[in-house]
Amino acid sequence: MPNLRELLHFYSEAGVDTPLEDLPVDRFSQVEAKRIAPAAPVQRAPGPQQQPESPQPSQPAPSTLTRATVPDDAKIAMARQLASSAATLEELREQLGAFDGCNLKFTAKNLVFADGNPNASIMFVGEAPGREEDLEGVPFIGRSGQLLDRMLAAIGLDRTSAYIANTIPWRPPGNRTPTPLETEICRPFFERQIELANPKLLVALGGPAAKALTNATEGILRLRGNWKSHSTASGIEIPVMPTLHPAYLLRNAAQKRFAWRDFVSVKMRLRALTE
Ligand code: URA
Repeated sequence: MPNLRELLHFYSEAGVDTPLEDLPVDRFSQVEAKRIAPAAPVQRAPGPQQQPESPQPSQPAPSTLTRATVPDDAKIAMARQLASSAATLEELREQLGAFDGCNLKFTAKNLVFADGNPNASIMFVGEAPGREEDLEGVPFIGRSGQLLDRMLAAIGLDRTSAYIANTIPWRPPGNRTPTPLETEICRPFFERQIELANPKLLVALGGPAAKALTNATEGILRLRGNWKSHSTASGIEIPVMPTLHPAYLLRNAAQKRFAWRDFVSVKMRLRALTE
């Protein structure tokens, strides 16, 4: 019989490392209560012979109510309005910090906005922060970040000459894939981040970033190595190189040669644009 420490270790290794509530919720008793509760009364205009209303069940706490009841479209509209009102990257970071429309914020420990040099000619975009990034609030600092640093060094770059961000600025619990809705809610922010950083080149690290930046529908193994384009809201076209994500390369070392080819192409294009 495993002891509690072993059990927690097992959960942590399996990626279950994010409690969603402070206290456990007994879902079985909720289902049971729903089954035996009478159907909610239909609301009618009060009539002369109507009985006094019986007390209503207590309402959920206001924060739960607000989060659950804002329609998805309104969250996206709010994200657009906030993102477009940011005139600088610092303002954008503040807007994101104050934005409650994405549920990922409530399970993440930190906002992971960006690292590197916002004035750099090249911007690298990943998908979403992992555990280490969430703990520190800095993108690409775990194992895949260390590989990214080596890949940057291989083409003469580092975090003083490159800007690094993600399409999603909060860690999804247990590193799950962000939902399409979460991506849409975060989209106005990362699009504005690109517009404000205004790099000459973008590198999309992995399929989700490549799709988010170029709207391409093919898988990353087809997309990689071929220059695409990202259109900003103000109509600027920025070349994008889709390439393999460092986390994928850590698991598939034989594919590193393809990423190397992509990075050489990036280096040559960057040189042509900046010299
Ligand atoms: N993977 C990503 O896509 N982004 C990070 O910041 C870390 C890992």
